Amino acid sequence: MAKIGSNIEKAADWLKKGSVVSIPTETVYGLAANALNETAVLQIFDIKKRPSFDPLIVHIASINEIEKYTLSFPHTLKPLADLYMPGPLTLLLPKKSIIPDLVTSGLDQVAIRIPKHPLTLALLSSLDFPLAAPSANPFGYISPTSTAHVNQQLGKQIPYILDGGDCSIGIESTIIGVENDEIILYRLGGLSLNAIESVVGKVQININQSSNPKSPGQIKSHYAPKKPFYIGDIQELIYQFRDKKVGIISFGKNANFKQQNIVEYNLSLVGDTYEAAQNLFGTMRILDNSAIDIIVTDYLPETGLGLAINDRLQRAAAK
Ligand code: TXA
Ligand code: MG
Repeated sequence: MAKIGSNIEKAADWLKKGSVVSIPTETVYGLAANALNETAVLQIFDIKKRPSFDPLIVHIASINEIEKYTLSFPHTLKPLADLYMPGPLTLLLPKKSIIPDLVTSGLDQVAIRIPKHPLTLALLSSLDFPLAAPSANPFGYISPTSTAHVNQQLGKQIPYILDGGDCSIGIESTIIGVENDEIILYRLGGLSLNAIESVVGKVQININQSSNPKSPGQIKSHYAPKKPFYIGDIQELIYQFRDKKVGIISFGKNANFKQQNIVEYNLSLVGDTYEAAQNLFGTMRILDNSAIDIIVTDYLPETGLGLAINDRLQRAAAK
C-alpha cells in the first residue's frame, strides 16, 4: 500500500522522479504527476484506466504562473480568477506548446486550477513544474475525499499519499471557459453557479457530454457506485423496492424508516448544501460497500451547491 504522510519534501521527491502521488485539495484528492513529463502523465492514465481522450487539469501555485502555460487570458475572467484562484475554480485557456498534447487530449485549451489547500500550495510552490491531476479514483467511480478512499482503490499503484485531511468542499471544481466572448460553464462544481453569476453576470451552461467536445470528461455515467442508484420520491422508491435491502441518502430531515432492511445516511440534517457536498461521496462509498441491494435518494434544492450535487446524483444513476 502507499505510504500516507504529510511530508511535502517526500511528495516532491517522488514527483521529481516522475512518479505519481496523490495530493489533497479542497475539492477532492488528486492523482498528480509532472504535467510537463509525458512519461509521468501516461502513468496517470494507466493507473486510473482513464481513456486518453479525457484531458487532465493542470495545477499551479499562483496566478502569476498562468502566462507560462497559456497564450492569452480573457479579461472577462479576471474578476473570477482574482476572487477564486486559489479555489474550486478551473479555467479553460488557450495552451502554450510547453503543455504536452497528452495532457489536453489534443485540445488547444488547457484546464488550469490553483487548489486552495495549504499543503498542496506549498508543494506546488516548491516544484519548478505544474502538476497534472485528475481525481484519484478509478475512471468512472466516485471521487475520493479522504486518504482512506485513495488508499483503498489506488494504494497499491502509487508510492505516496500526501495527507491533507478530509476535503473541505467534497465535490470537484467548477469548470469555466469562454467561447465567442461568452462565458460558458462546462462543469457544475464546488464554486456555485450563484457565486459565479454574482461576479460575471449570467453564464451559459454547457454540461452535456454528447454535444460538448470541450469537456469530453463530462460523460453521462460518472461518479457511479457499483450498486443500482435511484433518484426520486424516497417514500415511493422504498415502496417500489420493498423486497430489497435499501440504503437511503437523505437531506434536511430523516426519512425515519423503521424497517429492518433499510439504512439511512443524512447528508445534512440542517439542510445545508455545503455540508451535503462534504458528505456526498463518502456516503456513496459507505453505501456501495454495505450489505444493501440498492441506493435511493432524492434531488436537493437547487440553491448553493444543490445544482452541482444533483448533477453528480444524476450521473451516478446513469447507466
Ligand atoms: O476539483 C477538481 O477539479 C479535481 C481536483 C483534483 O483538482 N480534479 C478533477 O479532475 O476533478 P478530473 O480529471 O476528474 O476532471 C476534470 C474534468 C474532466 O471532465 C475533463 O474532461 C475536463 O475537466 N477537462 C480537463 N482538461 C480539459 C480541457 N483541456 N478541455 C476541456 N475539458 C477539460
Ligand atoms: Mg474525476
